[in-house]
Amino acid sequence: MNSELICINPACRARYAITEVIYNCPKCEGLLEAEFVAPATTPAQLKKTWRERRMSNLPIDQSGVWRYREMLPFDDGTPHIVTLREGNTPLLPAPLAADYANLDAITFKHQGFNPTGSFKDNGMTCGSTQAMRLGMQRVACVSTGNTSASMAAYAAAAGLKPLIFIPNGNISYGKLAQALEYGARTFQVDANFDQILALVRVLAERLGIYLLNSINPFRIEGQKTIMIEMLDQRDWSVPDWVVLPGGNLGNVSAFGKGLRELLQAGFIDRLPRLAVVQAEGSAPFYDFMRSDGDFRAVHHPETLATAIKIGDPVSWPKARHEILTTNGTVERVTEQEIADAKAVIGRCGIGCEPASAATLAGLRKLRADGVVEKNADVVAVLTGNVLKDPDYIYRYHTGALDAPDGKRLTSTFGNAPIVVPNDPDEIARHL
Ligand code: F0G
Repeated sequence: MNSELICINPACRARYAITEVIYNCPKCEGLLEAEFVAPATTPAQLKKTWRERRMSNLPIDQSGVWRYREMLPFDDGTPHIVTLREGNTPLLPAPLAADYANLDAITFKHQGFNPTGSFKDNGMTCGSTQAMRLGMQRVACVSTGNTSASMAAYAAAAGLKPLIFIPNGNISYGKLAQALEYGARTFQVDANFDQILALVRVLAERLGIYLLNSINPFRIEGQKTIMIEMLDQRDWSVPDWVVLPGGNLGNVSAFGKGLRELLQAGFIDRLPRLAVVQAEGSAPFYDFMRSDGDFRAVHHPETLATAIKIGDPVSWPKARHEILTTNGTVERVTEQEIADAKAVIGRCGIGCEPASAATLAGLRKLRADGVVEKNADVVAVLTGNVLKDPDYIYRYHTGALDAPDGKRLTSTFGNAPIVVPNDPDEIARHL
């Protein structure tokens, strides 16, 4: 038997060949997920093999995604693996951040250490490998910045042509610069992320371009290895909580799927609880999970954390399933809370981009509300590198950061540069 694509809709569960170019179920429009063939080896043996691969010089063993290839739907000896040695991101303890959230300890899993500086690389290595397996020539995505940076790099490495669509004026220059440098044809569209996703889906279908947004099930497969690697690094000790920011909700879907598969195969004996944190102005999933009603998109999402400025996340049915299965939760945080939490993560010597800091801000609230216990074992996932959005940082530290509603944010932990003359006496006065 080979890996297959399966519709996640419980009333449908239609199956498709792994080589079909589809993103939704042709029968019921449900989301699709990839199912891999369960490895014949025992968990104990695989844990040993995965550990040994860290000492190998083979590219696919060095990759923190392909090292775990027994858990991926590429069991046909895929010859075209596209890897930039993604993954291998560190677990970093952060006592100062723990104090800030009133926790005994916090560990950050920092996905910003990836080749293009975000967790998207974990997914893109699999997405671009699938594009190669399908014999596609062009790949496309809409992006709030990181997906496009990552897709551009992987497509360039694979010899594919990357086409990028971004909301005009709404992504950070760090990310846009990466896409240009990696040679992607880049279209800035006067519309928001959700509107552009609809547009790109039409274009992909019409022109035979392979879509590499997180609706693509192979992206999700790659991203689930973030959880496998995290547990491997912790010698398979399961944390109480895994906290992450939520935008299009692909990452929480990936984490939940990976964790369920590890439980089912006997690698772990319980699931951590997943906590998703959204920005208050772009929090449709938070609203949905706290109401009894239908899912309602936010039509004009707003947040300075542009990575998660998404009002109509496609993966919400998967995300809902994973939050319910793990007895997880969803929180939302203000612009001020994100900005201050980000500065605290910086002061730990770690740093991250604004969306990532929603984790610490959310944890602080969940702790204050008693949802997370003080002595909980918490892993928070920092999704992007500190250099992704330097403009935000400079404004915060110089007291010039305005929220989308025009209100100036307080630079609680501001650290403005000091302008001095070329005069040792004058400078000494500041020291
Ligand atoms: N953090 C960062 C740094 C991101 O770039 C994103 C998503 C998220 C969190 C949210 O992850 O969408 O899986 O819930 N960025 C996408 C992009 C949408 O286009 O780069 P999600």
